[in-house]
Amino acid sequence: MKRVLLYILPLLVIVTAGLTVLGVLQVRSVRERLMDDLARKARTVAESTAFAASDLMARGDSVAANRLVESFQRREQLQGCVLFDRQGRVFAITERVSAWGDKDKPYIRTALVTGVPRGGLERYGNLSLYSYVLPVESEDGAVVGAVEVVYDTAYLFDTLAVLWRRISIVLISLLSIIVIISIVVERQTYVLPLRRLTAWFGHFQRGELDRLTPFRARGELAKLVSEVEQIALSLRVARRAASSEAQERIRGEDRWTEAKLHDLVLARLGENALFVVSNREPYMHVVDEASGGVRCVRPASGVVTAIDPILRACGGMWIAHGGASADRKFVNSRSKLGVPPGDDRYILKRVWLTKEEEAGYYYGFSNEGLWPLCHVTHTRPVFRESDWRMYRRANEKFADAVVEELPARAPFVFIQDYHFTLLPRLIKERRPDATVALFWHIPWPNPEVFAICPYQHEILDGMLGCDLVGFHVQYHCNNFLDTANRLIECRVDAERFSVVQAQKETFVRAFPISVDADLLGAASPDVESEIERIRREFALEGKIVAVGVDRIDYTKGIKERFLAVDRFLEKNPEYRGRFVFVQIGAPSRTHIKSYHDLSAEIDELVQKINWKHSEDSWAPIIYQKRHFTPEEIRPYYGLADICVVSSLHDGMNLVAKEFVAAAGDRPAVLVLSRFTGAARELADAVLVNPYSIEEFAGAIRAAIEMPDGEKRKRLESMRAAVSDNNVYRWAANIVTELTALKKE
Ligand code: F6P
Repeated sequence: MKRVLLYILPLLVIVTAGLTVLGVLQVRSVRERLMDDLARKARTVAESTAFAASDLMARGDSVAANRLVESFQRREQLQGCVLFDRQGRVFAITERVSAWGDKDKPYIRTALVTGVPRGGLERYGNLSLYSYVLPVESEDGAVVGAVEVVYDTAYLFDTLAVLWRRISIVLISLLSIIVIISIVVERQTYVLPLRRLTAWFGHFQRGELDRLTPFRARGELAKLVSEVEQIALSLRVARRAASSEAQERIRGEDRWTEAKLHDLVLARLGENALFVVSNREPYMHVVDEASGGVRCVRPASGVVTAIDPILRACGGMWIAHGGASADRKFVNSRSKLGVPPGDDRYILKRVWLTKEEEAGYYYGFSNEGLWPLCHVTHTRPVFRESDWRMYRRANEKFADAVVEELPARAPFVFIQDYHFTLLPRLIKERRPDATVALFWHIPWPNPEVFAICPYQHEILDGMLGCDLVGFHVQYHCNNFLDTANRLIECRVDAERFSVVQAQKETFVRAFPISVDADLLGAASPDVESEIERIRREFALEGKIVAVGVDRIDYTKGIKERFLAVDRFLEKNPEYRGRFVFVQIGAPSRTHIKSYHDLSAEIDELVQKINWKHSEDSWAPIIYQKRHFTPEEIRPYYGLADICVVSSLHDGMNLVAKEFVAAAGDRPAVLVLSRFTGAARELADAVLVNPYSIEEFAGAIRAAIEMPDGEKRKRLESMRAAVSDNNVYRWAANIVTELTALKKE
């Protein structure tokens, strides 16, 4: 409508102006004609009255004169008549206008002196009158008085008003006809064809090929339609060809690489793109507080580390919470953008949550409820009804955001983590044909622990909307099956490793997540020079360097790690001045009190230990508390003699795998908590119980003093494991399992 107005507005203005000018001209000519008529009438009446009056006035017969002027009383429009004597005094006047005689009228004196008649408009009370004055002459031609006739002009203005009303009606009708015709023409020639083109393209996008009927259009639009059809056709042909070539290539390769995963996804999912859902987005646009500019940041997140390479390889869409300060500035009208920025390998769709929703769903239920519930770290979970309400609402919002993107046939939706336990069921209810998998990136507790959650049934029911639920390790799969078996009505099939509830079967499998080992292992001059810079900046030359990289989270065992460093230096003072621990700590979930308090406790502990052991310019702990990009972290892996991962409980822990992949061919050691999923695969690490500070301190010493040959051998064997079981294999296993389920 706005667009129609835009181009018809000038037309409306021109028509209005034209008709107004014509109207003014016509009204003026009618007015002149009516005034002429009136003047003529007035003159005739005045002349006949003057003729009769001249004799009466000469005789001074006021009785006959009054009879004469009263005879006008009965005439329409003619208000009255006044006779003036030679001095301009009223000689006789029609009673109806008797007050008119008192009015001071200089034009009467002028007419008596000059003997010239005069006509003009005058006001009388509320009336508008036409007055015509004619001098009365005696037989010898001398002026003996004057006669004035006055007419009511109301009928004249009424006639003009009627005329204006007619002109306005014509104008409004004309404008309405123009607007209606424009809207109809615009709809027929522009809106409807575009709407059909949009629907046509929507069917193409969603793979509804049977609904792609040929599109008929004319003129310029036909050219656009033809171009769109050509692009769509080429895309379909290209996708099909790529899919069959991909089948061939997969057969010829052993190791899982980005290219091989790409081929697998093409071959198995074909034209159906992959849809990933997570809370944390892979690219965040944040306002830099120092400069006021905007930075694109990759968050410290296991999910991002694992899933980003997969979507880079396969394309598809990642749907996540747009929670960063400048996120809204970088999306299109459908809240989407191509990422990585400038490379556009896949689509990121941002879902917007209100502050209230974010507080309840993310900080509250997900991270003060489910997170401590699933990690055995003796932090009490908090369950609030208001948080649960927001959690449900956020899951519903994500369901809407996902469903509106899904293609027509058999889409694949891959959901990440504990933020979305209700989402699988919500999607399945609306799209039963979708294959839905959820990967749980944290541990799953035993049934006794899980049973304290007040919303246990809703959560399990939501998750069992999945076709596949994945965990890092078999132990968590077993816990999940036990939990379902004990807490809800269902049948657990121990043979098929699945849960069956109301005819619906959900398979449960272990898929140990990993990293892109090739990418991390690739040497580069940039990394080498960065390592040198860091060594100089922190005076690390000649020192034994241990490194820790974590989000500041109570599950990561950061305090225990520093206590172990403290104990190690107490027991082994010969390492004072020779050993440095560099800790990178990314602030995380800082609105939650336990995280806030933990951060302050770590600060205090670092100060205390550094004060206790420091000598000259040396202090044992270098603590860098800020967000580091993956590129900034990479050199720390390259310079570390030891990497310490001391989680009190962890689903997998990708820092351990990143270090193994990035450490290179050096004598370096991984000290790894037994309570991480990674400890099951990285058995050549020095395994520790982080709760035992004595054992931990001993492990640090063992790591330092291990012979270089053994360090290399262990690292090499772990590198081979990570490189073989890389993130592409992880994703390939999930895609293979999903497509196999689909066939079943
Ligand atoms: O590893 C568990 C996990 O929740 C991941 O899913 C997530 O990427 C990471 O922790 C970081 O957490 P957050 O997104 O809350 O900062």
